[in-house]
Amino acid sequence: MRLDRFLTNLPCYNRQHVRLLLAQRRVSVDGVAVSDPLHEVREFSRVVVDEQVLQPGRPARYLMLHKPAGCVSATRDPQHPTVLDLLPADLRDDLHIAGRLDYNTTGLLILTNDGQWSRRLTQPKTQVAKTYLVQTEDEIGAHYVDKFREGFYFAFEDLTTQPAQLDLLGPREARLAIVEGRYHQVKRMFGFFQNKVVGLHRQSMGAIELDPGLAPGQFRVLSDSEIACF
Ligand code: URA
Repeated sequence: MRLDRFLTNLPCYNRQHVRLLLAQRRVSVDGVAVSDPLHEVREFSRVVVDEQVLQPGRPARYLMLHKPAGCVSATRDPQHPTVLDLLPADLRDDLHIAGRLDYNTTGLLILTNDGQWSRRLTQPKTQVAKTYLVQTEDEIGAHYVDKFREGFYFAFEDLTTQPAQLDLLGPREARLAIVEGRYHQVKRMFGFFQNKVVGLHRQSMGAIELDPGLAPGQFRVLSDSEIACF
C-alpha cells in the first residue's frame, strides 16, 4: 500500500497531517526516512513516526522444498505427514504454500509468509509457467499437443484451461507447462484421454527451478535474485 494511504487509514492522522509528516521527514520505513507519499509499505515493513512504532515489521521468509511423495501440501493434517513437518520448527511459523502439489507429486514447492508475493506467483492472470515432468500409464499421442494448446473444459469450475505447452519426451513421458494451478489440473488434462498420470514432478515455477542439489525432503532459502523474479 502507498505510504500516504497507510498513514491516513490510521485514526490519528488526516491527509493534511500526513503531508506535513512526510515533508518534515518524520516518517521512516525500515529505518530510512521517507518523504515520498507513494513509497510502498508492505506487510513486512517497519513504519515509525517520531519514534512511535506504527507497524512493527517482521522478516519475510521464502523457501524452496523438494517435496517427496507421501506427504500432504498443507500446514496441518490429522492423518498424514505434511510438508511443514520437513522444516525446522523455528521456520514453520506463519508459512503458507504457493501452489500445492498432490500427495504423491514430487518436486518444487515454494513456501513463504509473504502473501502478496505468493499471489503474483500463483494467480493465473500473472501467466507464470509451472513446468511438470509427467509419466503416464498409456502412450501419449502426438494429437495431445494441440488439445493441450486449445484447452480443456473443466465443468466443475465452468472454465476452459489456458493454452498449455506439451513436449513429448518419450512414449509415456512429457514435459508440460501450464500457467494455472487448478485442482488436480494435470491429472484431469490427461484424464480427458483416459490416460492415467503415474508420475508427476514439478521442475520449475517461472524462473525458479528446483535446485538439483536438494534431495527429496530437503529445503533451502530462496536467493535474492529468485525472490526478485516475482
Ligand atoms: N496437477 C495435478 O494433477 N497434481 C499436482 O500435484 C499438480 C498439478
